[in-house]
Formats: sequence, C-alpha cells, structure tokens
Amino acid sequence: MRTQVAIIGAGPSGLLLGQLLTRAGIDNVILERRSAEYVLSRIRAGVLERGMVDLLHEAGAGERLAKLGLTHDGFTIAFDEASHRIDIAGLTGGKAVTVYGQTEVTADLMDARKRANGVTIYEAEDVTLHDFDGARPRVAFVQDGVAKELSCDFIAGCDGYHGVSRASAPAGVLKEFERVYPFGWLGVLVDTPPAAHELVYASGERGFALCSMRSPTRSRYYVQVPLDETIENWSDDRFFDELRRRVPAGVAANVKSGPSIEKSIAPLRSFVAEPMRFGRLFLAGDAAHIVPPTGAKGLNLAASDVRYLFDALREHYLDRSAAGLDAYSARALARVWKAERFSWWMTGLLHLFPGETPFDRRVRRAEFDYIAQSNHAASAVAENYVGLPY
Ligand code: APR
Ligand code: PHB
Repeated sequence: MRTQVAIIGAGPSGLLLGQLLTRAGIDNVILERRSAEYVLSRIRAGVLERGMVDLLHEAGAGERLAKLGLTHDGFTIAFDEASHRIDIAGLTGGKAVTVYGQTEVTADLMDARKRANGVTIYEAEDVTLHDFDGARPRVAFVQDGVAKELSCDFIAGCDGYHGVSRASAPAGVLKEFERVYPFGWLGVLVDTPPAAHELVYASGERGFALCSMRSPTRSRYYVQVPLDETIENWSDDRFFDELRRRVPAGVAANVKSGPSIEKSIAPLRSFVAEPMRFGRLFLAGDAAHIVPPTGAKGLNLAASDVRYLFDALREHYLDRSAAGLDAYSARALARVWKAERFSWWMTGLLHLFPGETPFDRRVRRAEFDYIAQSNHAASAVAENYVGLPY
C-alpha cells in the first residue's frame, strides 16, 4: 500500500488532519488500533475554542456543531461562599467558546471522512514505524491477521499519550516534561438539565467540582477525588450529594440527579514531549502533550497542532516548500506551553492539594479575590480560556 501521509490514530487529531488533507487533495490513510465503536465510546471534554470550530467547518464537519453547539460567553468561578462570573465576551472584545462534546466532534469527523471516501483502517494491530529518518518512511501493521505495509512520504503521529509514535522517537532525542497531580476527576454524565446555563468551576474546603453540560437536557459533572479512589466507592447518590456540597447553594439547588449514563475517574497530568518532529514523523495532539482538563485545552491544542501541521504539509505538496514543516515543532510548542501554563495555573487555583497549609489556602483565596476585583486579572483568565491566537 502507498499514500502521501500515513496518520496513526483516529481520534480528533487524526480525523481532523485526515479530513483537511483529503479536502486539499492530499492522499492519506488513517491506521487506528481500536474499532470505530470503541473510539466513539470514549467520553471526553466539551469546550471548543473558536479555532477548533473554524477548523471543523473547514473540514466539512461543522454542520451539527452549528445546530447543536452551545455558545458560551462567560463562566463562573466559585471559591467557598464567593462566586465570580468571568465575562468572556466583555473581556475579550466579543469572543466566546462553544460547548459541544468531543464524542460529537469525533462522530462528525468520522461521518465527513466516510462521505469523502477517506480510508481508515480500524483494528490495525502491531503498528510499527520505520525509516522516517529518511525520505521513504513506512508503517507496518497487521490487519485481520495479515501483515501489511504502508509506504508514505510522511507519518503523522496522532495516536495519543499511549501511542506508538512518540515511543518510536530515536533514543536520546526526546525530552519529556511532566507534572502528575495528586488527585483525579470523577466524572458523571446524566440526562438531566444542567444546574446552570454556564459552566461553574467551584473550589471549597472539600475540594474541586465542575458543573458542565452537553446539551439543554444532558449534564456533565466532576468532583475532585484522591488518586486511589475507585468508581465502585461512588454510588450516584453519593456523587450528587458530594457535588451539591461543593458548589454554591444556588447552583446546588438546581442540580438534578439521575441515573449516571457514564461514570469514570481520570488522572490529571501536565506533559510535554519535545521536539514534535523526528525527520518525517510529526507528533500532534495527545501524542505530544497532555494538559489537566481544568482549562479545557486538550482538544483545542490538538486543533492548533493540526492547523500548523496541515498548513505545512499543504505548503510542501502545493508550493514545494519545506518551511512550514521545518517550523512546525517550534511553532506548535510555543502555543502548547502557553496552554500548559494556563491549565497548570487553573488546576493550582481550584484544587485542594494534599498537605496544603493554611498559608497555601489563603494565597489561593487571594488569587480568586484578585480575579474577582481586577479586570486585568480577569482579562488574563478570559483570553486564555477562549484560546490564545494561533
Ligand atoms: N496504533 C494505532 N492507533 C493507536 C495506537 C497505535 N499503536 N495507539 C493509540 N492509538 C489510537 C487510539 O486508539 C486513539 O483512538 O490513537 C487515537 C488517539 O486519540 P486521542 O487519545 O483522543 O488523542 P487525540 O486525537 O490527540 O485527541 C486529543 O482527546 O484524549 C483526548 O483530552 C484529549 O481532548 C483531547 C483529545
Ligand atoms: C466537560 O464538559 O467535560 C468539561 C468542560 C470544561 C472543562 C473540563 C471538562 O474544563
């Protein structure tokens, strides 16, 4: 088999890149380890920056988003008894974010790829990357028990944190930067109306909680839990009782419990791998970086990586220029690190850290008070939350 760009992974990064390449007439094949059903079963965050919204429309996958996406021009941060609304639109000259589940993004991209007759090989096993330090990279894999090989011009490693692409980087070249947080997020999806019209990030003496949503009839809630927690310890009743104790009373009164349709615990980690390019292998999305979900940046960083990588590949094929490819890693990392900082900062502001001293807590409260009382401080939060320029 031969293609121009071999994409490893059919998550949002791989599907978005594949769709953009196909629409630009650049041949590509996606190799995905799991089934399409499994990929769609993964519940992830749901706040899109404008850059991601624009990319989905450019990829021909924005129709449902336009109909069902919820435009949000503010969100609330609550600290103990105090609450403060971040007026995103007012502080950023009218910008907003769109609430739309990643599962929907993935489904829309899969549909668009099918309509465009894009080639995605699901359940591709034992994917290995070869010769990407030369001009003729190739990918070996097993499909239905048969060993196969895909030769290509470039490999896009869109296979997430646990993928094979970053693991294939030459020894001694990769530098990794990581911070693992001493807690996780227990998340619940429930078919009841959201407790508030906008997102509420709450921090109190019992820990962090987040009230989010997927639609006017489907809510997404999270509470911070210790790393050693298991979902077996958390009945729906216990979850909703704890959630109500961690959010402002006015919000708690509107939390409508119901049978959870998904319940899971996610660890929190900040991670960056440098560089994001190794010869003709390029990393994008979670394959290269992870952020704690507090700043809702994971999907949006995948979007900016794909923007830069797609532009660079198009420039290579259409303009015969390597400038974009040569600049990709530094350009992507510049934006990645700013989002890593914001996500780390939001996580530090809102979570109760084990061993936190009374001094630490007072400083966190002072940070909240500063944001609530200073437009300059609130503007910094707003411009990072809506997404820094590409
Ligand atoms: N071979 C083929 N496919 C693989 C391999 C492999 N060795 N390893 C992983 N994959 C697939 C996974 O099954 C998954 O479908 O690569 C895909 C990677 O998708 P994501 O992990 O979703 O990463 P990405 O597409 O970069 O999207 C980032 O997803 O995890 C969230 O919070 C994250 O919102 C962010 C977004
Ligand atoms: C979500 O809706 O899942 C969500 C929203 C905002 C976040 C994290 C998760 O910061």
